[in-house]
Amino acid sequence: MRVLVTESIAQSGIDMLGKKAEVDVRLKIGRDELLEIIKGYHGIVVRSATLVDSQLLKAAKNLKVVGRAGNGIDNIDLDAATQAGVVVVNTPESNSVSAAEHTIGMMLASCRNTCSANQYIKSGNWDRSRFKGNELDGKTVGIIGLGRIGSLVSSRLQSFNMKVIAYDPYIPGERFELLGVEKMEKLEDLLIRADIITVHTPRTEETIGMLGESQLATIKDGVRLVNCARGGIIEEKALYKALKSGKVASAALDVFEQEPCPDNPLFGLDNIVVTPHLGADTHEAQNKVGINIAKHVLDALEGRFVTGAVNMPSLHDKDMEYLKPYLLLAEKLGRLYYQLEKRPVSKVEIKYRGGIAEHKTGLLTLAYLKGLLEPVVKERVNYVNAKLLAKSRGIDVMESLDSAASEYTDLIEARVSNGHGAFSMAGTLFGMKELRIVELNGYKIDMEPAPHMLLVRNEDKPGVIGCIGTIMGVSKINIATMRVSRNSKGGKALMVLNVDGVVPKDVIDMVKKVDGITEVNFIKL
Ligand code: NAD
Ligand code: MLT
Repeated sequence: MRVLVTESIAQSGIDMLGKKAEVDVRLKIGRDELLEIIKGYHGIVVRSATLVDSQLLKAAKNLKVVGRAGNGIDNIDLDAATQAGVVVVNTPESNSVSAAEHTIGMMLASCRNTCSANQYIKSGNWDRSRFKGNELDGKTVGIIGLGRIGSLVSSRLQSFNMKVIAYDPYIPGERFELLGVEKMEKLEDLLIRADIITVHTPRTEETIGMLGESQLATIKDGVRLVNCARGGIIEEKALYKALKSGKVASAALDVFEQEPCPDNPLFGLDNIVVTPHLGADTHEAQNKVGINIAKHVLDALEGRFVTGAVNMPSLHDKDMEYLKPYLLLAEKLGRLYYQLEKRPVSKVEIKYRGGIAEHKTGLLTLAYLKGLLEPVVKERVNYVNAKLLAKSRGIDVMESLDSAASEYTDLIEARVSNGHGAFSMAGTLFGMKELRIVELNGYKIDMEPAPHMLLVRNEDKPGVIGCIGTIMGVSKINIATMRVSRNSKGGKALMVLNVDGVVPKDVIDMVKKVDGITEVNFIKL
């Protein structure tokens, strides 16, 4: 396995990656060279400067994972990665405290003119009167984006005796209450009330330019602005004008519309404090980021379930522990359809019954789709792109839950429609580890998935089972287990034989000729 690291991460992370993979650290690599060499790598680790777009992903023929050593993923084309079946992992928790602390530091520096005073005194001057600032105490701070970092900033600012108000339409009201923060229903409500505004949203289409000229016109005179989230959320041109006019008393920026940006008209102003995207740059955060990104990347490369992947459903450990054995069952159930039917699928309905329905089952549905599609699509199918591939093939996927107990403690039922009819199957686990298919197209059965299986549909009449036994014996194919099921006495029957090797086509043809046999399939599960 080969991993390319294009931006600086902690040595602890590189060392961890190096135990399992060949690691190349290429910090100054140019775009053209990156496009040229990426096909030789299975993993890439980046921070915010490397653009992982569709062009790079197309060139990355062997890539399985993009590790974003940090939080923001605005430099990664998630849709393109998902389409290519490439897992994207990041480490959002690892640097939140550092980013929150930097925000507070920048806010204080901005309110107290710390940086200008520092420069002034170091140039051989001494004057206290020109750097008079403001206290945080008793002021109202407006937080835009009350996620991980916004929440940490909020609790820290409350200890400065600030009144905290916030705007985040995607966070439930209870969360605001829990944090002791007053919820603003509209951004405008925050803008007219806050003495200090700090932004903590991701950079998205909705947030780019969120504080532009018209918004800055509505704020209180003399507001102080802080942006340690992403460049462009506060429009730089509008900010320049507002800082110049004094509408905004001061600003503190760690992030910029263009990065790196060694020169920027804003840097010429006295009432601005700037740092070169340092929010996450502490020893503590970088160590955590390095170790955690290495763990996630190795999980993805070694085929383990990646907790916290950005383009896959995430699971808590409790859910994972319960659901893990069912992932294989769901995948094997999915594998059944195209081995028995050749008609294109239009709809898949999956029902989870019993205790399993109390867990997050989305991943099981992905496992089912992976099993269903893998044998028939040319692209790599995995948990990342299974749903997207199903959609692109016109397959409607529906999931339902019923936690009421049935005949089995847990049951996965699937119904596949193909325009001509429906195909059904159900499976469970015995003792939480033995996989069993317990229903197939209306037949109750006790079928153990195996690599060599013969599924025979026949009329329920004497002699059929004996004939098959004879054919297998003559053909030197050992039968490991045999299960039979019928829908009614003398009606239709299903026979499942687990055998010890591949059943050749001529043997299958012989079985097909037996009087009363209607269909024979050799399948692998
Ligand atoms: P998060 O996802 O936990 O929180 C973001 C919050 O923004 C969410 O609660 C979301 O609901 C809210 N939001 C999204 N769109 C919004 C909108 N239009 N209006 C109001 N709220 C909106 O993210 P986080 O971990 O708290 O990170 C916040 C920002 O900080 C991100 O942009 C991240 O990239 C950045 N960051 C910067 C540094 C740095 O070095 N300066 C370090 C870490 C994170
Ligand atoms: C992040 O999103 O994690 C920060 O921008 C910091 C970083 O990229 O290291």
